[in-house]
Order: sequence, then C-alpha cells, then structure tokens
Amino acid sequence: MDQPILSLRLTAGYPGKGVVLNDVCLDIHAGEIVGLVGQSGSGKSTMTLCILRLLGFKGGNDSGTIVFRGEQLVGQREARMRQIRGKDIGLVLQSPLASLNPSMRIGKQLEEAWSAHENGDGRATIFRTLQAVSLPQDEAFLNRYPRQLSVGLAQRVLIAMAVLHRPALLLADEPTSALDALTQAEILGLFRTLNREFGTAILFVSHDLLSVASLCHQVAILEKGRIVEQSTPAEIFERPQHPYTRRLVGAIPILDFQKRPESGLQGEFYSDPEFSKQLALFTAQLDQTVEKVNAA
Ligand SMILES: Nc1ncnc2c1ncn2[C@@H]1O[C@H](COP(=O)(O)OP(=O)(O)OP(=O)(O)O)[C@@H](O)[C@H]1O
Ligand SMILES: [Mg+2]
Repeated sequence: MDQPILSLRLTAGYPGKGVVLNDVCLDIHAGEIVGLVGQSGSGKSTMTLCILRLLGFKGGNDSGTIVFRGEQLVGQREARMRQIRGKDIGLVLQSPLASLNPSMRIGKQLEEAWSAHENGDGRATIFRTLQAVSLPQDEAFLNRYPRQLSVGLAQRVLIAMAVLHRPALLLADEPTSALDALTQAEILGLFRTLNREFGTAILFVSHDLLSVASLCHQVAILEKGRIVEQSTPAEIFERPQHPYTRRLVGAIPILDFQKRPESGLQGEFYSDPEFSKQLALFTAQLDQTVEKVNAA
C-alpha cells in the first residue's frame, strides 16, 4: 500500500489525570475513512487535539510522532500549524450551533473561512461546496444567521466550512451525536459523498460502532487510551478479536449480519444508504446498550 497521509504514534495526558493515550498507533491513507470508536473518556477527542497540536491549549501534553504528508507535526511551530489547520486538516465538531458565530451571517462566515487561507474571490468555491453538501446556493440562504437554521442545516454549514479548502484530512469528532436519527443518517451519507467526490480522508470519531461500520473502511477500537483492535468493519463484526470489541458487537441488538445472505459482508453492503439509514435509526437504542456494556 502507498504511504499513509497521517501516521501517528502517541502518548498523551493531562497533569493530575495521568496518561490518557498510551502509545497509540494509527495510520490513515489518502482517501480512506477510518473510524475511531470508544466509550466516553477513552481519549478520542484528546487524539484529535494532538493531531491539530491544540492539546497544549487544554493543558495537556504529549510525546511521540505525528507525520502528516511527510511533515512532522510534533514540535512544529504554531505559525505553521495555523496554515495547516482549516486548510490541509479540517475539523467538524459535535455542536454545530456552538461552533458557528451567532452574530454573523452564514455567507460572511464562509467568506472568512475562505480568506483565512486564500486570497481573491472565493464565491465560486463556496457555491460549489454548498452544492456538495446539499445546501441552497442562493443569497437568501447566505444572508441567514445561525439561529435561523435547524441543527442539521447548521452541521452542513460547518461541514462546508471544513471542506472549503479541500483538506486532505478531515477530523470529525462525534459530528452526528447532537442530531436526531434521520438527520444523523443524512450527515453520514454526506461524509460518504465528500469522501467520494473530493477524495477526502476522514478520521470519524464516534462511540457508535454501527454508524462507524456503515461509513468507514477501517475501524479502530479505543479502550482506556489503547487501540485494542483495528480492522475492516466486516472483520470487526464477523471475527472480533479483543474481548472489549466482542462485548460491543455482541451487545448490538438489531442485526445478525451473518444471517443476511445477500450481504456478503463486503464494503458496498456497509455503504448502502438505505442500510445506513436503518443503522442510524437504531443509534439511540445502541447508545443505551453501549452505556450498559461500558458500565458492566
Ligand atoms: N483539559 C483536561 N484536563 C484534565 N483531564 C482531561 C482534560 N480533557 C480531557 N480530560 C480527561 O481525559 C480523558 C479522555 O478525554 P477525551 O475527551 O479525550 O475522551 P473522549 O473519548 O473524547 O470522550 P467523549 O466520548 O466523552 O467525548 C477523560 O478521562 C477526560 O476526563
Ligand atoms: Mg470527545
């Protein structure tokens, strides 16, 4: 296989808290969607902060290596990281409305996101990006304020901002957790579209194994700061190796994958939109199950 665009080996923690990521290794290849699944507090967001070199702002510290397209990010100057953040590595977070500026029109926020990294008129790219995320491409929409958007539309705006510069890597930290089940399914479909259309590699962080399986080429299972297993969704469901993965898979109440003869458990099965919609409809139920497993 070709060189990964991101290759990390990390140990990280917070003073008074101790080690939160314990010698974690992860590779992401160009155009690949990698899911990072783990319970609350397992260190998922800490990993995204490390990649963006933002952990220090949260009082944490890390050691190791993060090589992004051949460039070592650990120890990199802040000025250089500002060039990379938002341009080469995009970020989408859980709470879209909290991430948008409430007092600025949507169009203005998109223009600012554009001019943070490019000179000249970004209109054509902004409109092309709105189209890619299935948002209206007209002045009336651009003149709206965030409060005039549903949470699902707001998340699409944030995703549009995150991919405006066609980053090679998009970090999505629980981007669907604040959404209702149907909107979750739509947003999952959107990540799939962006991956296909722009070739964006995605690190998709979630506690929801089913959503991740429906979207990702690779799934890494994080338990208490260690990646205990990494494989394809089919392998994770058919032959989970680690006891924690087995408990997660065994607790999924709805689908017996092996009994669906038409599935073949190939990638296309997991990327079928109708299937992922079905999966998403069960996420609320799954959340409760995961909580129970984690509490056990
Ligand atoms: N600024 C901080 N100072 C001290 N400890 C922190 C800080 N931020 C996070 N932690 C701790 O580090 C651990 C990992 O947190 P992290 O936010 O990475 O987990 P997570 O997997 O993203 O959880 P969630 O699913 O709830 O978002 C947790 O125990 C958390 O309490
Ligand atoms: Mg988190």
